Order: sequence, then C-alpha cells, then structure tokens
Amino acid sequence: MKRWNTAKIRAAKGTHKIACLTAYDYALAKLADNAGAHLILVGDSLGMTTLGYSTTIPVTMEDMLHHTAAVVRGTQDALVVADMPFLSYQISIEEALRNSGRFLQEAGADAVKIEGGAIREECVAVLTENGIPVLGHIGLLPQSIKTLGTFKVQGKTREAADILIDDAKQLAEAGAFGIVLECVPPDIAALVTAAVPIPVIGIGSGSACDGQILVVNDLLGLSENPPAKFVKQYASLAPQIKEAFTAYINDVQAGEFPAPEHFYATAQIKSSS
Ligand code: KIV
Repeated sequence: MKRWNTAKIRAAKGTHKIACLTAYDYALAKLADNAGAHLILVGDSLGMTTLGYSTTIPVTMEDMLHHTAAVVRGTQDALVVADMPFLSYQISIEEALRNSGRFLQEAGADAVKIEGGAIREECVAVLTENGIPVLGHIGLLPQSIKTLGTFKVQGKTREAADILIDDAKQLAEAGAFGIVLECVPPDIAALVTAAVPIPVIGIGSGSACDGQILVVNDLLGLSENPPAKFVKQYASLAPQIKEAFTAYINDVQAGEFPAPEHFYATAQIKSSS
C-alpha cells in the first residue's frame, strides 16, 4: 500500500473514520503500521510513557528526533507525525521553522503537530507555506499543564466552546491538514468537527470526530496509572509482561534456563594428544 499522505488524510473527512495511534519506538510502530493505523503520532507523551517524566515539559528536540527516526524506520504505510516539544515553536516563527524542518529532514517525519489555536495561526501558515504539514492540537493542551493546574475537560461553557470553534477555523484557514481535539465534551466536539473542512481527530472527545487517537501504552495496558475514563484498554500487557519476567528470573535461579534445546551444538573439540 502507498504511504498515507496529508492529502489522503484530509480527503478521509466525511468518508471514513481515521484511526490514529501514538508510538515511540521501532517495534510498536511496526506493529501499529502492520495493523493498518492511518496516522502514527510520535507524541511528546513520550515524556511520560517512555522517559519516566511526570509531564511533557522536559521533553527535548533531541529526544523527539531520536524517537521519531525510530518510528519512521518501523513504518511503511502510516503517515508519521512528530510532536513539537515544549518551547520548540513558541519562541519565534524562525525557531518553529528550523525545528519543524529538522523533523522532516533528519528524522524522516511526514508532518509535525503543535499545540494551540488562534495563537498559532501565523506559525501554522509559515510552516505550511514552507512545505511542512501541520496537525493542530486544541482543547486540553498538555504543554500548558503548569498554567492549567490539572488535566481536565475543556470547552464546557458556551464561551469556551465558541473559542474552540474559532480556534479550529483559524487553524484550518492557516493551512493545518487536521486538528487533534483533546478532552472536550462530545456535543462541543461535534460542533467543532462540523465547523471545519479538515479532519478533527478526537481523544477523550466523543465519537462525532472524524477520527480517534489513543496513547499506545494506555490502549495496551502498559501505563502505570489507571487509564483515563476515555481510554478503552484493548489489552492488559503489564501483568503479562511481569509474569513473563518473573518466570524467566525463577528459571535462571533454578538452573532451568537455558535448557539443552536452547544450546548450540557442542564444539566437539578433539584433544591434541
Ligand atoms: O503527546 C501525545 O501523545 C498527544 C496525543 C495525546 C494526542 O498529543
């Protein structure tokens, strides 16, 4: 199959739902790609899932480039989007252009994602005009956790909903090929989705969106904390992995691993006498 591109993702709006996943390494990216994910996001949730931070704030450009390149090597069909980390696009449009370009040039990503609505209009326009496709992100913005205080549902009042709709329209007009809409009530998400001609990819925002995205660790049951209300856990891998590790440790200690079937053939060295 030909790799998904941003034109194909845009064209999917109103025709079929877009299934997106995050991935942070070669192995899981390859499995998600083989399973048919349309878009793989190398999210800066990497900070929590893979690097052990409590927020996305400490994640650096170098972290993101390293993991994006691994995900690109693991994919053939999915569109790979790299999340621009905290302060890699906020300081100036020049820095945003330089840093986003690195994701395409050095890591092989197809597009980048940035957080924020109307405030990012110029940034989205400049990146897009320079050949760098942009996925917007509105609603709950994890990079703003220090000002938000907690991860909570956004857009609950009429005014907040109007701002979200306006944000989405401005991102679309600036040239974004899609928008992630995080933690917004389902009725408001439906209004946002209907207001723009580009796909809206929901996370914790109900089923009216044009597509869905989940953090792969949550979906697989690998996360340390219980998944948020909006996560459907499709597997429960953490206990299975722990069980496998425990069995291995016990086997090694008992001298039961390796067993003869795990040995190479004996060398049969003849004595020299
Ligand atoms: O970083 C991330 O994984 C994200 C998704 C939650 C959309 O931004």
